[in-house]
Amino acid sequence: MKVDRDQVVAMIKEMAAVVAQNKEYLTDLDSAIGDGDHGINMDRGLRKVLEKLPPVADKDIGTIFKNVGMGLISAVGGAAGPLYGTFFLQFGKIAAGKEELTTSDIGAMLAAGLEGIKQRGKAVVGEKTMVDALEPAVEAFAAAADAGKELLACFQAAVAAAEAGKKATIPLVAKKGRAHYLGERSIGHQDPGATSSELLLRAMLKVLES
Ligand SMILES: Nc1ncnc2c1ncn2[C@@H]1O[C@H](COP(=O)(O)OP(=O)(O)OP(=O)(O)O)[C@@H](O)[C@H]1O
Ligand SMILES: [Mg+2]
Repeated sequence: MKVDRDQVVAMIKEMAAVVAQNKEYLTDLDSAIGDGDHGINMDRGLRKVLEKLPPVADKDIGTIFKNVGMGLISAVGGAAGPLYGTFFLQFGKIAAGKEELTTSDIGAMLAAGLEGIKQRGKAVVGEKTMVDALEPAVEAFAAAADAGKELLACFQAAVAAAEAGKKATIPLVAKKGRAHYLGERSIGHQDPGATSSELLLRAMLKVLES
């Protein structure tokens, strides 16, 4: 199984749709431990990405993802914009010039995206951020790929791990971003960024499953 350009375009549209559907939910999560803008930020960013999609939708997959990254950086603001922007710019680098993606391409894109976020935000697992969902997802994808699983099974493993990682942020004390000012009062709340990370990965998976 390979992923072609049309599926990539469908993934981007699905990510935008899922974020729009979950705008209030993400904002409510961010109201509890941040400044209540995560859903608004992400929705604004992905709407911008959709606006900028048509002129690149027939280009190589690297160009398409680079455009997603640049759209998010320019429109999201806050902490999450540059972090997710970096994530998709890294996708674009690995996918540069490609018309379709293999399992190993996607594993490399996820790993590079995570690495970009970690370099930029300096967060490690356990600090109650999007890294808590993304790192287990990347590791699960790699483990499934190493075991010879098909792309779909690798992506399913990644999303299951992201979901578990997202839930595991609930008892954590935030160490990064605005939420860390709350200290122990951040305990008991699910991290908004970990939540949006799981939603984005799940949106991509939905296209693979369709
Ligand atoms: N240094 C970081 N590394 C990774 N993720 C981070 C970092 N700082 C914040 N985040 C993620 O960003 C999410 C908040 O994104 P949001 O769109 O609300 O931006 P923000 O309000 O500027 O963020 P913050 O209040 O966290 O600085 C958090 O839930 C967390 O997952
Ligand atoms: Mg916020």
